[in-house]
Amino acid sequence: MTRLAASPLRPSAARHRLSASDFKLDSIDLYITSRCNRRCSYCFLPDAYFDRTQHMTPATVAAIVGWASGAANEITVLGGEPALHPQFAAIVRDTAATIRVRTVTNGSRRFRAALPAVHAALSRVAVSLDAPSAGLVDRLRGRGAFADAVATVEELRAAGVPFDLNCTVLADTLDAVPDMLAYAEASGAGRLNMHWFSPVGRGALHAAGQSVPAAQWRRRVLDVVAAYRPARQSFTVDCQVAFDFPVPGADRGTCAVRDRTNLQFLPGGAVFSCGMLLEDEALAAYHWQDGALFRRAGDTELARTAPPCQGCPLRPADGGHDPICIYNRLAVV
Ligand SMILES: C[S@@+](CC[C@H](N)C(=O)[O-])C[C@H]1O[C@@H](n2cnc3c(N)ncnc32)[C@H](O)[C@@H]1O
Ligand code: SF4
Ligand code: SF4
Repeated sequence: MTRLAASPLRPSAARHRLSASDFKLDSIDLYITSRCNRRCSYCFLPDAYFDRTQHMTPATVAAIVGWASGAANEITVLGGEPALHPQFAAIVRDTAATIRVRTVTNGSRRFRAALPAVHAALSRVAVSLDAPSAGLVDRLRGRGAFADAVATVEELRAAGVPFDLNCTVLADTLDAVPDMLAYAEASGAGRLNMHWFSPVGRGALHAAGQSVPAAQWRRRVLDVVAAYRPARQSFTVDCQVAFDFPVPGADRGTCAVRDRTNLQFLPGGAVFSCGMLLEDEALAAYHWQDGALFRRAGDTELARTAPPCQGCPLRPADGGHDPICIYNRLAVV
């Protein structure tokens, strides 16, 4: 197991030590492992991340949870595939003694094997499923990906664990959006969480050309979601707005880096506010070291998003539509 490097702190580093109350955190993300059973074509993580095989130690997880508790209400455990961490079950159970624990999984066999040991400790599970079609999903995520996700959904439902579906919409899955809404509602999911495909990490190399253009995102995703009327009261749809459209949830002033509303802890110690930037750890605004969070100097995500920047400075405009933060969401209840 790779442990976080214990390199000595620079004397000035103590000045930049940050507490959780320096942020506005509802939830934080812990990337507990870089190991994954898949290599999805569109993954925002780069190959270098998977090649390192790093695990966050249970002691580091406990220290971060201790740092965040009192400020954040929930920890999201992900990776890589979180269940491939050798101590996944112990991490989930120990963390749940302090704070709500949610996990995001591709529905791996290892996750299903761990389920009896963790289901009582998990507040929710998000299963990634991009379309209600084995052909489409397996093409994007590799053979058996659809069957894995469906089997996991069935086991979660049988165990009474609340679950959601995460769906990344790419050019190839646009036609499936209406069916995906109906499928998610029928599956018993509490929420369908829809992402615009961000072409970073592996996605930039292996899914180039799969980002949905602004005009199509409006017409074939946002308008379809806005018109959807769930028959089941306990089902909601939550969709990334992506561009500067005049719809509820769009706010071009939002940026999780500038607003300090999001933290993502990677197994090597890098800590980001923006999930779009994980492909380059040199851009992380913060660093977790020796049980504390420090701000990093230099050309980090903080410098790149500094005011008076508005909207998302990382993506280009498209057909006259400015990109807005990935954390702007259109909710249909
Ligand atoms: C990086 S994965 C980690 C958890 C687990 N391996 C999984 O796939 O569910 C977290 C979420 O990010 C989504 N995702 C991956 N690459 C993406 C991209 N380029 N744009 C938008 N969402 C993406 C995945 O579908 C998944 O729901
Ligand atoms: S999206 Fe999830 S399952 Fe796919 S390669 Fe990335 S981390 Fe692994
Ligand atoms: S997606 Fe853009 S606007 Fe949102 S946190 Fe990242 S840099 Fe900021």
